[in-house]
Amino acid sequence: MIWAAPHPSGMILPGSASQSLGAALASELGAPLGAVSYDRFADGELLVEVPDSLEEAVVVCATTSSDAHLELLQLQDAAREAGAERVTTVLPYMGYGRQDEAFVPGQPVSARAVARAISTGTDRVVLVSPHERAVADFFDVPCEVVEAAPLLAEPLGDLREPLFLAPDAAARALAERVRDAYGAGAVDHFEKQRDYDTGEVTVHPRATDAAGRDAVIVDDIIATGGTVSGAVSALRDAGAGRVVAACVHPMLAGEARSRLARAGVDRVVATDTIERPSSVVSAAPAVAAALQ
Ligand code: R5P
Repeated sequence: MIWAAPHPSGMILPGSASQSLGAALASELGAPLGAVSYDRFADGELLVEVPDSLEEAVVVCATTSSDAHLELLQLQDAAREAGAERVTTVLPYMGYGRQDEAFVPGQPVSARAVARAISTGTDRVVLVSPHERAVADFFDVPCEVVEAAPLLAEPLGDLREPLFLAPDAAARALAERVRDAYGAGAVDHFEKQRDYDTGEVTVHPRATDAAGRDAVIVDDIIATGGTVSGAVSALRDAGAGRVVAACVHPMLAGEARSRLARAGVDRVVATDTIERPSSVVSAAPAVAAALQ
């Protein structure tokens, strides 16, 4: 296929795990959505293929797995091979982003290692809601951070005396952003403790009385669901009304979703930075604003 991209942002090239977001972004920007094929050899190695004549490309790839990291590097390289003079990389979710320091001697700074690798194939990075904004400094090319959390306010609907709760002090600013976007409600946070030997997370409610109020627990990511399910249980014990779990990145690994259900969550709402059934709102408008 011969195709020259006339759109200023270039052709959107989605990774296999970011096809909905890629389509939403193309629609938001009025940009062409590239027909990318994703193949795998018998030995497990990946091979992508992109349209063969490009001027500008926007690679959109959530690096939710080691394969997704490889796929991202291949998409960048394929875009260059296809003639793209400018490649922008959108990281809806940056895998390894939480490994932002060597926690004990001998460990790598994995976020830095992957950021360096990604930098080799792109002119610019747009990074959505990283766990720590400082990871943006690990890239060797300009990296713009986009905050998608305010978009989580839209699917919340009518809430009774809403209470926005972060599972720990570090996520409180996120809860405040969602409350501000919602336009009403109180904000508080739990005290969280994680046992690094067992992986068990316990959260303890702070002062705010949740009885009878609808509660929205806001976090950047739900991974195993341990953190948020602890918060849900605490809110159930406190007599809260409806309990909603809202996160930007719904990793929801393993049995996380049923763990949340067992804890008594009413709804899980999330963006499509990671594409899951809970991805009820698209991060595309926030990403598009950064690309325009
Ligand atoms: C940690 O500080 C993050 O903000 C999340 O709370 C955490 O990574 C969620 O992980 P999990 O769902 O496994 O408890």
